[in-house]
Amino acid sequence: MEKINKIRFKLNKIYYNLFIDKYNKSINFNFPENVNRWDLIMKIIKFYNFKSYLEIGCDDDYSFKKIDVPDKTGVDPYSGGNFKGTSDEFFLQNKKKFDCIFIDGLHEYDQVCKDLDNSLNCINEGGIIFLHDALPANVHQQAVPRYKIIWNGDVWKSIVYFRTRNDCDIVTCKIDHGVSIVRKIPNKDLLNININNFKNLKFEDFYNNYQRYLRVIDYDVIFNYLEK
Ligand SMILES: C[S@@+](CC[C@H](N)C(=O)[O-])C[C@H]1O[C@@H](n2cnc3c(N)ncnc32)[C@H](O)[C@@H]1O
Repeated sequence: MEKINKIRFKLNKIYYNLFIDKYNKSINFNFPENVNRWDLIMKIIKFYNFKSYLEIGCDDDYSFKKIDVPDKTGVDPYSGGNFKGTSDEFFLQNKKKFDCIFIDGLHEYDQVCKDLDNSLNCINEGGIIFLHDALPANVHQQAVPRYKIIWNGDVWKSIVYFRTRNDCDIVTCKIDHGVSIVRKIPNKDLLNININNFKNLKFEDFYNNYQRYLRVIDYDVIFNYLEK
């Protein structure tokens, strides 16, 4: 199994670098070592006294078990959570609304866009959606198909697309590989870029524009943003 993965990863790398994207520079985000995704989520849950939580992609419940709210739903087709199935299967049958949603499932552009659209449809007024892995350090971490263990996928391209929409407001917190914060309010800082297919964005575009594209902010100023 391990050997097959290694061969598949090698082939994916050759394919990706030849036909999709290749860029040598990388970004050192200097993420703080003592702040994780669940710290940010719990800080905001406590501040707003949120009561319900949905996590898409739970894996070994590393974050899910740390979230302290009365009503928790965790969705994963393979492991963790309490709903066994894909996010598409979950949203198809879901009738509930949530105060807080954490999207951390399949890190591929089309799926992230679907997960975010579905989440916007079932977030309570005043609720908050988080998206993990928004800030890849290099082209290898963004590659789809994947060929690295540490993998952000191209979540960032979906965020750029939603930054151009009027129906939500987004910032990206510089912690733990990047956590975007999405609110269902009119966009206060509409990203104005002339792109037809966001999936075709390159890592070089990210390297040169990520601050503006993803509206990157530090952890300690998060409430300055949320209370505006
Ligand atoms: C990065 S891990 C999640 C980590 C977890 N949220 C945490 O904070 O520790 C991604 C998870 O997404 C799950 N996944 C993959 N495809 C999915 C899909 N279509 N819908 C929901 N979850 C999916 C995988 O099984 C994997 O467990």
